[in-house]
Amino acid sequence: MIELRKITGENIEEVIALEVEEKQKDFLETTNLKSFADAHMLNTDGIPATPVAIYLDEVVVGFMMYIYDTLDHESFENEDYYGKKSYFIWHMMIDKRYQRKGYGKLAFEKMLMEIEQMPYGEAKYVTLFYHTSNAKAKTLYASFGFVDTGIIQDHSMLAIKHLEK
Ligand SMILES: CC(C)(COP(=O)(O)OP(=O)(O)OC[C@H]1O[C@@H](n2cnc3c(N)ncnc32)[C@H](O)[C@@H]1OP(=O)(O)O)[C@@H](O)C(=O)NCCC(=O)NCCS
Repeated sequence: MIELRKITGENIEEVIALEVEEKQKDFLETTNLKSFADAHMLNTDGIPATPVAIYLDEVVVGFMMYIYDTLDHESFENEDYYGKKSYFIWHMMIDKRYQRKGYGKLAFEKMLMEIEQMPYGEAKYVTLFYHTSNAKAKTLYASFGFVDTGIIQDHSMLAIKHLEK
């Protein structure tokens, strides 16, 4: 069974040890360790960040993180979501040994269900970036209703999903 669990002293080493395929490294802007450190800094700055370990029964197979923040980057200035709150998927990975088994999809679905409860406050959107050559990520996110915005930064596409009230 796939479960999302808090990162603790018990599982942090396993989370840091997770790896993607060599050719997938360019698809990730950051590492699990750096993301976990970012989560602490963001939380300290008042931007809620939720890093989670993805478990298959008692084995850690992946890592994800989302934050709750304002869409205020200058490249969105003319978009109607500019200045609005969004749940932003900061990081998503499944270890290379456990990919293509449906775990990423199940874990992502669970995270979206958590986000739909709006744990940190109201938002109309869930947003994320994916590398434009990352066909697998594109298909995965599209299957959950994420739509490309056409905004590309550093080879990554901003995709957006509208949250229902
Ligand atoms: C992207 C990633 C998280 C997906 O996890 P996964 O466990 O391998 O994916 P799943 O087995 O659950 O497959 C999920 C969906 O991806 C899509 N998918 C899977 N393999 C695919 C492929 N080779 N080509 C295109 N789409 C593919 C399908 O839509 C699939 O759903 P379906 O089986 O119902 O059709 C994982 O491959 C990964 O960690 N990749 C490296 C890091 C990365 O790219 N992270 C995303 C950053 S935006």
